[in-house]
Amino acid sequence: MTAAKTGIVLGSGLGSLANLIEVYSEVSFEEAGLHPSLVSGHAGRFLAGRLGEREVIAMQGRLHLYEGHDAKAVTAGIRWLHQQGAETLILTNAAGTLHPDHPPGHWMMLTDHLNLTGTSPLEGGPNFIDMSAVYDPRLRIRFSQLAEAAGLPLHEGVYAALRGPQYETPAEIRMLRTLGADAVGMSTVLEAIQARALGMRVAAFSCLTNWAAGMSGEFLSHDEVIGTGADAAPGMTELLKAWCAQETT
Ligand code: HPA
Repeated sequence: MTAAKTGIVLGSGLGSLANLIEVYSEVSFEEAGLHPSLVSGHAGRFLAGRLGEREVIAMQGRLHLYEGHDAKAVTAGIRWLHQQGAETLILTNAAGTLHPDHPPGHWMMLTDHLNLTGTSPLEGGPNFIDMSAVYDPRLRIRFSQLAEAAGLPLHEGVYAALRGPQYETPAEIRMLRTLGADAVGMSTVLEAIQARALGMRVAAFSCLTNWAAGMSGEFLSHDEVIGTGADAAPGMTELLKAWCAQETT
């Protein structure tokens, strides 16, 4: 596989972002030494290629704690991307929104996170890494500028990660709001921690697919998450295209 500067992880329902890439080669999760991906909406492969002015490897799908994997297995793809030469990591996910002004169908760029999974990929060593700025401030400024120029609503906020796989109760959502969360999901934070430990620059985006439990009259469903993700994917496609149109920053 060719050396790539940027790794992009595509979350639930967002796999179509890979259509942007002029693909040179494809590697399955198994070939890269990962467990296979079992969740619908997650393809389970790496696509290496060119996107605008950048060499990228897209990870189509990811592994989750709720599939029974541990934090090391969940983040194996990030270590693999780093081994392939990725210095920058773009993470995407589907998330429930807790913020009344951030409706489903919009995107939120992570400013910070709450790791409520109870685990870390760095367990087993004295990895006391600094976590003051997990989501790269310069990248965030750049993406905000590009989103504004493209007319794409891009909110900013704090993402809380729980283990799942069940969605939250309304009481859990009230707790998360009290803790300062703007969005909730079941991925991303362990990958971001692993990437920072490897010295990668990280940016992360949540596709807000639904109101969090108890915030609307609706019940939550995986199909709604996948459907809204697919509808909102073109916005992120535009943003990534704009970012990849330049080689720097
Ligand atoms: N909660 C947790 N994970 C999610 C949600 C949610 O509401 N939506 C998409 N992923």
